[in-house]
Amino acid sequence: MKIYILNGPNLNLLGVREPGIYGDESYDALVGRIEQYCRERGVEVCCLQSNHEGALVDYIHQGFFEKIDGIVINPGAYTHTSIALLDAVKATSIPTVEVHISDVSAREDFRQVSYIRAACIGTVSGHGTAGYLEAIDLLLSYKGGAK
Ligand code: DQA
Repeated sequence: MKIYILNGPNLNLLGVREPGIYGDESYDALVGRIEQYCRERGVEVCCLQSNHEGALVDYIHQGFFEKIDGIVINPGAYTHTSIALLDAVKATSIPTVEVHISDVSAREDFRQVSYIRAACIGTVSGHGTAGYLEAIDLLLSYKGGAK
């Protein structure tokens, strides 16, 4: 089982960025925690981050050609704007879970739209960075466990 964890714009600044909303764990610390969680479950993981929409689309295509089993994606602000990311998940049919550190449903109106959600098998929102691990569990149960 091989998965990608994709993070969009500004998520490289975790720990620095609005800690009252996104917490004080750094991006590198989060990646370390995800890698350990996956190692313990026999899952191969690749964590990727970009501030650029097209680069995130390219990563999804790369996952398709590498025949990965799933994606956990926090598209950041592209959640609310990007039809390109929605189309990339639809085009590749890679089982994908959307994750948000904050509870987007309780925030500004402009955060109430998620384009990518329509192509996702699930969403985890508002559970802090622990939400990434929950999203991995969702992928694992969807795929019937690690192989
Ligand atoms: C976010 C929520 C988005 O609205 C915001 O633009 C982000 C982070 C979250 O993880 O809570 O960059 O996706």
